[in-house]
Amino acid sequence: MNILHVVGARPNFMKVAPVLHALKKHDGVSQVLVHTGQHYDANMSDVFFEQLGLPAPDVNLGVGSATHAKQTAEIMSRFEAVVEDCRPDLVLVYGDVNSTMAAALVCTKLGVRVGHVEAGLRSGDRSMPEEINRLVTDQLADLLFTPSKDADRNLHREGVSSDKISCVGNVMIDSLVKLLPHAQWEPKNGRPERYALVTLHRPSNVDDVTVLKTILESLIEVSADLTILFPVHPRTLNRISHLGLNAQRIRLLEPQPYLSFLAMQRGATAVITDSGGIQEETTYLGVPCLTLRENTERPITVSLGTNVLVGRNPDRLRNELAKILGGHAKKGSIPPFWDGRAAERIASIVTGKACPGPAFPTHVEDQLTRV
Ligand code: UD1
Repeated sequence: MNILHVVGARPNFMKVAPVLHALKKHDGVSQVLVHTGQHYDANMSDVFFEQLGLPAPDVNLGVGSATHAKQTAEIMSRFEAVVEDCRPDLVLVYGDVNSTMAAALVCTKLGVRVGHVEAGLRSGDRSMPEEINRLVTDQLADLLFTPSKDADRNLHREGVSSDKISCVGNVMIDSLVKLLPHAQWEPKNGRPERYALVTLHRPSNVDDVTVLKTILESLIEVSADLTILFPVHPRTLNRISHLGLNAQRIRLLEPQPYLSFLAMQRGATAVITDSGGIQEETTYLGVPCLTLRENTERPITVSLGTNVLVGRNPDRLRNELAKILGGHAKKGSIPPFWDGRAAERIASIVTGKACPGPAFPTHVEDQLTRV
């Protein structure tokens, strides 16, 4: 069986790693890893491959940055040749980035089966580019691997047939579970005892100068009570550098490698973010998360986890942070199937066989060995 994986952007890498490792345990499976090149900076891509024990991509399409239409079209036209050349039995796509949708579309047109890992999540907000990517990918996919039951319900509502859907759990949490023990060895780099960890990159928050300014002003206010560590995404850095940010207690950092960012999340007093994956990771870690969005495609992190949506309302951010600092942070629990074994379940379904051993290599040395 020939399986081709497509990844392109940072959040894809921690999702593909456990699946690729789990499939490696099965005899008779050959795997090809395609990187579209949507993310190309070493600290957005290479370092994740290294820490997650991923092999160097067999193919890098090198598409780079562009408008949505150009980036999507470029991925499609370059990827089509790869699929025609490899003729895989199955293509696995991950998450909700442009690379995910572009690859699914190419395969469907070529009559190649597609599996979507992290299917069924919906924010209900079609102004979000990722929501369009999710809707299109899920309509096209032949196998839909969901992280939680709310995702199954979304798919049923959209008419996706039940026999295509498998609730396998959260593959991003698989990577976290395996690598968290190693994150404790990460150097502290002068981190204070108490701090808020901030990430910000959603177009709706950073592309409009007025919105970004309001958010930064709220963060400056927060920094009066709590030091802020802010690893800045390249998209956000572009915008901030135009605005100028003069706040002594906000430490702007480079995008962090996976292990270092896990260590920072685990040690944080609070995480303030607009990321999707970080809402999940903080729920697993039991760390309070304040999400700077009006909606989430991951409602289970609110209903069961530690996540609170504060939107872009400075008063809500202030109030929720005061609760956390006053020792009244929201308590949460870990959602069902977020147990580090989602990838094993995917591998079993794809191959039709039970997983013959632990899905992920056990030692860091193994992880760092090229597969
Ligand atoms: C993409 C995904 C988003 C995901 C995020 C994680 C889509 C539609 N969006 O958003 O879902 O949460 O990745 O980071 O697929 N840039 C660099 N170096 C890089 C990559 C990007 O400098 O390695 C800069 C470029 O100026 C680029 C901008 O960041 O224009 C945005 O990159 P892009 O891949 O278009 O989208 P993200 O905002 O990263």
